[in-house]
Amino acid sequence: MQQDLERILFDQATIFRRLDEIAEQISADYRERELTVIAVLNGSLIFMADLLRRIPLPLKLDCISVASYHGSTKTTGEVIFKQVALPDIQSRHLLILDDILDSGLTLAAIREKLETARPRSVRICVLLRKRKLHARPVEADYVGFEIEDEFVVGYGLDYMERYRNLPCIGVLRKELLAPSA
Ligand code: IMP
Ligand code: MG
Repeated sequence: MQQDLERILFDQATIFRRLDEIAEQISADYRERELTVIAVLNGSLIFMADLLRRIPLPLKLDCISVASYHGSTKTTGEVIFKQVALPDIQSRHLLILDDILDSGLTLAAIREKLETARPRSVRICVLLRKRKLHARPVEADYVGFEIEDEFVVGYGLDYMERYRNLPCIGVLRKELLAPSA
């Protein structure tokens, strides 16, 4: 798998060092409040597992599943919620975890949808944020790394559902992307 990468952006040690920092920041910010973490499947799974084990606070965890990509590398703009019921989040302090903030369409739609269930507060934490003009402006409160506008895989991020189990994050070789991508 690793030979499919054009170059590695962040190896596991670098990711773990950054997770230590973000976890410390989140733990300090939520010292006095009980957190409900909402992880966005599937991309945030590995990030979520490694981050939450670094946060020594009582918290609840729920996952939501949305689809917006349909196998390409460009967003279609439409966000489909795959479950009917939202988690019970009324009056809770929410922290939404996602893998990457690209166009912003997914996180904007998720935030909007979760806010209809009247949480007490909502913050967003992403592992990666692309340096670009986001189609919808989304404030991420915690960001692991800023990256250029390139297609990346690994550490939870996929291309056509592959590469999620790579321990590092890297740029996929261009010739492996479908011509329409
Ligand atoms: P957005 O709605 O464009 O901000 O991105 C939504 C989703 O697209 C993310 O949660 C990822 O699953 C996926 N995505 C965006 N950019 C990349 C990338 O560079 N590699 C892999 N997945 C990506
Ligand atoms: Mg994806």
